[in-house]
Amino acid sequence: MASADELCQQLVQKLSLTEAPLNSIAFASEASVDHQKVVGAVKSLQSMNLIEADQLESKRLALTAEAEQIVANGSHEFLVWSALPAEGGIEQAELTKKINNANVAKLGFSKAMTNKWIAIDKSSGKPIVSRKAADVVDEVQQLLQLVKNNAVDKLSEQQKTDLKKRKLISEITEKSYNVRKSATFTTNIEKPETDITPEMIAKGTWKTKQFKDYNFDAKGIPPECGHLHPLLKVREQFRQIFFELGFVEMPTNNYVESSFWCFDTLFVPQKHPARDLQDTFFLSEPAECGDIPAEYMARIKETHENGGQTGSQGYQMEWKTSEAKKNVLRTHTTAVSARMLYKVGQEYQKQLVSAGGDGGKVEFKPVKFFSIDKVFRNETLDATHLAEFCQIEGVAAGRNLSLGHLMGMIKEFFVKLGIADLRFKPTYNPYTEPSMEMYSWHPGLKKWVEIGNSGVFRPEMIRPMGLPEDVNVLGWGLGLERPTMIKYGIDNIRDLVGHKVDLQMVYDSPVCVLHNDLTKDSASL
Ligand code: PHE
Repeated sequence: MASADELCQQLVQKLSLTEAPLNSIAFASEASVDHQKVVGAVKSLQSMNLIEADQLESKRLALTAEAEQIVANGSHEFLVWSALPAEGGIEQAELTKKINNANVAKLGFSKAMTNKWIAIDKSSGKPIVSRKAADVVDEVQQLLQLVKNNAVDKLSEQQKTDLKKRKLISEITEKSYNVRKSATFTTNIEKPETDITPEMIAKGTWKTKQFKDYNFDAKGIPPECGHLHPLLKVREQFRQIFFELGFVEMPTNNYVESSFWCFDTLFVPQKHPARDLQDTFFLSEPAECGDIPAEYMARIKETHENGGQTGSQGYQMEWKTSEAKKNVLRTHTTAVSARMLYKVGQEYQKQLVSAGGDGGKVEFKPVKFFSIDKVFRNETLDATHLAEFCQIEGVAAGRNLSLGHLMGMIKEFFVKLGIADLRFKPTYNPYTEPSMEMYSWHPGLKKWVEIGNSGVFRPEMIRPMGLPEDVNVLGWGLGLERPTMIKYGIDNIRDLVGHKVDLQMVYDSPVCVLHNDLTKDSASL
């Protein structure tokens, strides 16, 4: 049996003698090798660019498994005839026993009767079977042998139909190749290298070596195991906490956001430093966003310029659509919260219309949303700052929610993380009032450290969205990288992203241990 290499060699030798294309099936039958092996050789010669091969599809008649048996042992009728003695007869039951295959015995008996090879005598009471023809020719076996030898053309159409009817032959579609020499054909098969080695570089042999092409179509070996990215693992812990608290995840699948949703809906003044090139990535292509709901935009403009319906004075400055349309990489996930809250507001307005404008008749179902995803800021990169990071954000909207609710909710959240000692310190956000930084007592450092930012969203943000007067919206946010870095003992944030991340790193300490560590240093999250 020729090895794969020998088969390749035989194939190129054969090709070197002719300009005509060589068919792989013809080659296989001539060389008496399995066609699949020839196909393998064709593919490997093709990958070495020695040959060109066109795939063909041809139909041919092939033997069924039963027919293979017949070629080897004789047809059923022949077996029945052979089982009978040359002289005299035997009982039918005995014949069946001798043949030892009920199906062969039954079918063979009736065919042999039709062929007049055998006779049956029932006169004695017991059916006795005997030979009628002294000599027979097993035509079925001969025909099948012809099919096996690829000499189907020697069969008449009637014979083919009969064999098909008996399910002894069937038409199969066979894929083969017509093989030709390529422009770089040679009979000298040098196996191409799969990898470049240090030796090849040192000796310079890589210059003359043939390298195997990459197979970009390969499906590869299915992975038996894998690793989640550490950030994803910690994200999953936070997600679970939100789910336990009944929060619903927001869709965060747009890194590109308009300034409108990122800043204007959040009552960030158009002159705010966050809208500066130094702090935010602006897109050049497309520089401007698509549609902004016109009515909503008009309300935002009014609110920014003079407070509109909100009772505020606004910024007393001209608000420009051109500024709002500028596309940015979102700088915080509060843009996502704004989109969701606007939806809730619009839903409320719809219900209000169906209730004939009577707000008392509309039930406002409180909502709790969260998101954990990437945001982008134009920072100077260093060991603790990247231009992209993940934010964790929770928002809740309901009638008559207060600062007390916000503090209670944040406490619940951090208790789930294992942080019980919390303090709040007033701060400033353009979109929340009051706003609070959250601090936690760090027993190791013996001091209060900042762990996040929060607030009650301003009416200037909430009212234009269409939410009713007595609905307040609470929110808080923190970063994902800091707790992850602490958890995995990473002190350079650049080891947490890109190709450098060590996916094998593991930890399996309980969540609460993570979050005592969360407060390890006082840098803001
Ligand atoms: N968006 C704030 C930040 O980027 C976090 C925050 C969310 C604050 C919700 C208040 C309310 O830090």
